Amino acid sequence: MTQDLRLAVAAEMERARARTALLTDAVDDPDLVQQHSPLMSPLVWDLAHVANQEELWLVRDVGGREPVRRDIDELYDAFKHPRGDRPALPLLGPAEARAYVGQVRDKALDVLDRVRLDERPLVADGFAFGMIIQHEQQHDETMLATHQLRAGAPVLDADPPPAARLGVSGEVLIPGGPFTMGTDTEAWALDNERPAHTVDVPAFLIDAAPVTNLRYAEFIADGGYDDPRWWSGPGWAHRQAAGLTAPMHWRRDGDGWAYTRFGRTERIVADEPVVHVCYFEAEAFAAWAGRRLPSEAEWEKAARFDPANGRSRRYPWGDDPPEPRHANLGQRHLSPAPVGAYPDGASPLGVHQLIGDVWEWTGSGFDGYPGFAVFPYAEYSQVFFGGDYKVLRGGSFGTDAAACRGTFRNWDHPVRRQIFSGFRCARDAGPGAC
Ligand SMILES: [Fe+2]
Repeated sequence: MTQDLRLAVAAEMERARARTALLTDAVDDPDLVQQHSPLMSPLVWDLAHVANQEELWLVRDVGGREPVRRDIDELYDAFKHPRGDRPALPLLGPAEARAYVGQVRDKALDVLDRVRLDERPLVADGFAFGMIIQHEQQHDETMLATHQLRAGAPVLDADPPPAARLGVSGEVLIPGGPFTMGTDTEAWALDNERPAHTVDVPAFLIDAAPVTNLRYAEFIADGGYDDPRWWSGPGWAHRQAAGLTAPMHWRRDGDGWAYTRFGRTERIVADEPVVHVCYFEAEAFAAWAGRRLPSEAEWEKAARFDPANGRSRRYPWGDDPPEPRHANLGQRHLSPAPVGAYPDGASPLGVHQLIGDVWEWTGSGFDGYPGFAVFPYAEYSQVFFGGDYKVLRGGSFGTDAAACRGTFRNWDHPVRRQIFSGFRCARDAGPGAC
């Protein structure tokens, strides 16, 4: 058992590192140290930051080993330096960063070989390793977002996503009543996903699939960006100040739209979930459509509730980890898949593509669940509670399975759209619906 866990952890560490290497080896050294957007770090910062976190938690804390490079801790502390300031720091250069990454990994693997996995809560079930693996995978998604913002010739390649296998449209009724939100049993779940607790959710209707490019283009064509009726006060103020007229990376192309993705410009795909919209845009679309965004609890109930037995599943399709047939995850494809591409990943009630493709904005702010306890450090989630953040759910094509599950919570400012963010709509079911 313990040996199996060690092997599984080592394989997951290796898998995350292969992705990190691919994303950073794809560009030359000047590109690696350049800042492609003030919203993002230079890729070389992410690279050494991933290793620095691995050093802090696995080498020093879990392993009790001597520091590899204590002198650089401050440079790679995300709380000390906002992304916009990072290029001006005396960062490790590409060769130095790669050497550091390798040194830390050798030590972390040695710690993994020797540590008793059950001796401290931090190490139980390999949690600290799981946390660091998820951290690296999350930075791999951030680095993919940096690639999307980078100018120049394409450097990333992947197979196109699968085609739609069936038509998916309309709404699904989720019956009212209690369900279990969050988890006590998911070994590598982060503190903000805990504890499991009962939430009574009234009946509601939710879109069977994320909102598509076609529907979103209809909102634009109907003057959605010019009509303050559809926008909240802060949303309209932001729309005006930022000059928003369409999702990020869209541009007019004759009578339609094209977008540029990872350096390639093509016509938008009508039945693909819209991506790179901010919370305010999602909220305005929903109002225009006579709907609203789902709350976080509604989203999770749609994703996990099994009406046959009343229990909450790990994923919409069941408790088995994601396979390629379930969801568009892990950067296997460099775009969302069209609606209807993953019938095997649908929930028991028939809600599709909740996991993968695009992060979905919910109407909820980010806060701790009842009974929340910091673990293992306040800076992971607690310091973000109660801010202007909105919760996103479900993961995107850029999210790895290791950092995605039915309980996983992401959060960001409502103006952010360089992330792989889309949405689906919901509405109250009304009396007698269940
Ligand atoms: Fe980080």
